[in-house]
Amino acid sequence: MCASISGFSKLSKSKKIDWIVKTYFSEQEEAKKVIKQYWNNNIALQNLHDEFIENTITNYYLPFGVAPNFLINGKMHTIPMAIEESSVVAAASKAAKFWLERGGFKTKVISTTKIGQVHFMYHGDFKTLENFFNTVKPNLIADAKPITKNMEKRGGGILDIVLKDKTEDISGYYQLHATFETLDAMGANFINSCLEQFAKTFKTEAEKQLAKEIEIVMSILSNYVPDCLVRAEVSCKLEDLPQDDFNAEKFVQAVNIAKVEPYRAVTHNKGIMNGIDAVVLATGNDFRAIEAGVHAYASRNGKYSSLTDAKIEDGVFTFWMEIPLALGTVGGLTNLHPLVKLALELLHKPSARELMQIIAVAGLAQNFAALRSLTTTGIQEGHMKMHLMNILNQLQATDSEKKIIVEHFKKNTVTHSAVVEAYNNLKEKN
Ligand code: HMG
Repeated sequence: MCASISGFSKLSKSKKIDWIVKTYFSEQEEAKKVIKQYWNNNIALQNLHDEFIENTITNYYLPFGVAPNFLINGKMHTIPMAIEESSVVAAASKAAKFWLERGGFKTKVISTTKIGQVHFMYHGDFKTLENFFNTVKPNLIADAKPITKNMEKRGGGILDIVLKDKTEDISGYYQLHATFETLDAMGANFINSCLEQFAKTFKTEAEKQLAKEIEIVMSILSNYVPDCLVRAEVSCKLEDLPQDDFNAEKFVQAVNIAKVEPYRAVTHNKGIMNGIDAVVLATGNDFRAIEAGVHAYASRNGKYSSLTDAKIEDGVFTFWMEIPLALGTVGGLTNLHPLVKLALELLHKPSARELMQIIAVAGLAQNFAALRSLTTTGIQEGHMKMHLMNILNQLQATDSEKKIIVEHFKKNTVTHSAVVEAYNNLKEKN
């Protein structure tokens, strides 16, 4: 039986669970057991997690792994990754080791500007609106001072506010398009607070100075940050690439295909996001914001395309990527979640600029490993090798059975059916 409920949010955690299991599960005690087995015995830690979101009933674990051997601008890093997909951490580690022997990754922050907009409607003369905006602009900035003064002390704050005429898209639609420098903060709260203050001042002043009414529709930051860009690159002489299991020409072709073919580009970029999301999550950043912004950037020329680029020129293979990453290393979960704190400490407590570079490298490394496999052995060989353990766990193989089967697949190709067959054969023998 499915039911609606009023006042669910006011129930205690155990009453919420009672309602859930009673309403949706036939095996009520079993469902309760699954929910509760993920509770942490450390009450304070559990309470902390309960309060991250609303209506928490349990914890959802993701593996937290590490990929060592990343040489970035001459400094060694071990990169933390939170992800459920097998072979991603192994692939990142393998790419790191590969480039460690070839000079490592080179990175550069290109820009760090964040964006927010006040969307409003106005059905009067544009020139009058423009004059009003120019008069009121200093007030917008001045009234936001209580919000911006600490950020300004640190060197950040509001960079500019411009009036944008969007009436070609929607009749009467305009924007206050604001740019910000938020330093080590991702800046969502800071930007949204500034925008809401701009809207308040703008509306109040408009009521005094304009004949036609202004209607504020909404004030919100944008997760599209094409001017918060970082570049990551690897390169080496062709003769320094392995001859047996690397094909530079095919690698470049694979990137070129992803540049022109959206079906391929989406999967290609998904592979990049395997690396990016895993580090974004481990460091307590907002992966939905990053995903949305990165994919919008991949479509910036009107067609969804590869985020990475590759070339062979004068006997040198170069592989690189420029992507927008708005990240924070202060605020949000960074001071609250013990594992996030640990991840940031593992990364030598990076600034947001440093984290942008590390995360871009994780994405580039991931894409390198995937393309290397795709253009040589095919993806399944390595992926299935890593996936073997998942299949064995599904089959509930014991430790000794796992050992024997892993040994068997060192010489045989892993497929789901081959693993099931090997497992059944082993069972029959014993
Ligand atoms: P391999 O050559 O069989 O590995 O590669 P190896 O056993 O020879 O070990 C070499 C190194 O790889 C190790 O060095 C590790 O760095 C790493 P070592 O530690 O021994 O000094 N490595 C591991 N690290 C941790 N745990 C492990 C492990 N095994 C190797 N168990 C590998 C195997 C999977 C790494 C390789 O085949 C590979 O890189 N494959 C690509 C896998 C991949 O891209 N996975 C992502 C999921 S697939 C996907 O979603 C994206 C995709 O669709 C995107 C696209 O289409 O572009 C593919």
